[in-house]
Amino acid sequence: MKILVLHGINLNMFGKRDPAQYGTLTLAQINEQLQALGAELGAQVECFQTNHEGAMCERIHAAHGEEIDAVLINAGAWTHYSYGIRDALAILAVPIVELHMSHVHAREAFRHVSVFADIVRGQISGFGGESYLLALRAAVKLAQGKP
Ligand code: DQA
Repeated sequence: MKILVLHGINLNMFGKRDPAQYGTLTLAQINEQLQALGAELGAQVECFQTNHEGAMCERIHAAHGEEIDAVLINAGAWTHYSYGIRDALAILAVPIVELHMSHVHAREAFRHVSVFADIVRGQISGFGGESYLLALRAAVKLAQGKP
């Protein structure tokens, strides 16, 4: 089983940006934890990060032709306004899990909207680095055909 993890704009700065919201884990540490949990659950985990919207769309397009069983996405601020990424995600036939480190619904109003909400299988928000691990567990279950 293969799970693609997509990290969007500014997420390379985890560990340095706003620790009150995002804690102190770096993206590299998050990726290591995902790889370790993936190995436990029998899933190969590939992680991709970019600050460029077009590059993110192109990675999603490539995923369409690859043997990927599920996608995790934390698109950062793109979550709230990128119809381009939404349309790219909508091309995929595999389950998609959206996640956020911070509790977006307890923050500014613009973060309460996700333009992906109706095309993803579910959203996880507010558990720091644990959000990624919960999302991976959910994605593996979905890929196994379990709800
Ligand atoms: C975020 C929440 C977004 O609102 C924000 O723009 C981010 C990170 C999170 O993981 O909590 O960059 O997606």
